[in-house]
Amino acid sequence: MSSPAQQPVRSDFAARLRSGTRADHDHVQSLPFLRTLLAGELEADAYAVMLGQHYFAYSVLEQAADAMRSDVVAGPFVSERLRRLPHLETDLHYYLGPDWREVIAPSAATERYCARLREVCFDWPGGFVAHHYTRCLADLSGGKLIRSAMRRSLDPPDGKGFAFLTFDDVPSSAGVRNAYRLLLDTAGWDEREQRRIIAEVRLAYHLNTEVFADLGSRLPPRIPRPRG
Ligand code: HEM
Repeated sequence: MSSPAQQPVRSDFAARLRSGTRADHDHVQSLPFLRTLLAGELEADAYAVMLGQHYFAYSVLEQAADAMRSDVVAGPFVSERLRRLPHLETDLHYYLGPDWREVIAPSAATERYCARLREVCFDWPGGFVAHHYTRCLADLSGGKLIRSAMRRSLDPPDGKGFAFLTFDDVPSSAGVRNAYRLLLDTAGWDEREQRRIIAEVRLAYHLNTEVFADLGSRLPPRIPRPRG
């Protein structure tokens, strides 16, 4: 049995991180591409292009997860349940066919995002957690909402096309998010490191914003609905 002295001290880092990045979240969420998606008005090909961009980022992030698995600080954040790469592959095959690897290409914004992931996620545990938090909690938290919006526009047969947004091994996304927040609170980062991680999460939001802005610029122009 562990004595009270062995219990990790719980900080309020998760709450600080959330409030310190709320404006960045609100901003990315308001971009035309995500608004179109949430309105249930995104076409399948635009959704597939988004999945393709996520595929490149997750390839680097999940390689970093493998590298960080045995790290004493970052290792506990790595979870099979949050892995998205095999699910992205399933969906890309569904939308683009068996040659999907030849069809997708990273945008310049995705290249910049991947370069930053390579720079900080392999030898800085806090940097890995910053990027892992931003993408994994995004997909886990917004996934259900986005899935039901996408169902309205795509209505695919037999529930196909949503493997990326479906977390079969997660009985309660709130439970996983709370467990994630507990890890953030007990990681033992000092004030300076906490500030450094918050800055990295803000950069992660910025890099994601550029990816979604580029995706938005490829959307067909909206045709105004006639009044009355
Ligand atoms: C359609 C767009 C989006 C919707 C509807 C959405 C919605 C949500 C919701 C409902 C939550 C849970 C808030 C709560 O726990 O009370 C959340 C959390 C979160 N979202 Fe999003 N989101 C979107 C886009 C994004 C994007 C693009 C990113 C990152 C690039 C992102 C990153 C996050 C993160 C990191 C959290 C966890 C915050 C925390 O609890 O610390 N979201 N989102």
